[in-house]
Amino acid sequence: MGSLVLFLGIIFVSAIHSGHEPIASGREFVDPELIDKHEVFSKPGLHKVEGKDWDYELVFVVSAFNYNPGEVEIPKGAKVKIIATSRDVVHGFEIAQTNVNMMIEPGHISTFVKTFDKKGEYLLLCNEYCGTGHADMKSNIKVVD
Ligand code: CUA
Repeated sequence: MGSLVLFLGIIFVSAIHSGHEPIASGREFVDPELIDKHEVFSKPGLHKVEGKDWDYELVFVVSAFNYNPGEVEIPKGAKVKIIATSRDVVHGFEIAQTNVNMMIEPGHISTFVKTFDKKGEYLLLCNEYCGTGHADMKSNIKVVD
């Protein structure tokens, strides 16, 4: 009986300890004040990259109440790493009809790797209430041949 209690105790303690570790090891940060000088965020939009596991990087700077870029074209079949941060408050980042759904926080870099293999227009919208212009926060993602 004593060893069972000890055993459960060890599980309990290790569960608590694992809760203190960073959830994602790749968590990255950016100073919202320095976005315009940042090597990635100073150039919002789609960029072709070489030697990575993805073909393009799609950089978004999000702020109340817009996405920059407000419209983007992606070649069909492209594997894209979306990289986003917020200038001000927490915003959502949901691309309708896809599994892309992130929370964009000031000071943090959010990423999502997605292959856009279906031609069409996809609405990017904010699904976190962020103020009076929340419902108007949109961008248009066009997947083209
Ligand atoms: Cu941004 Cu709601």
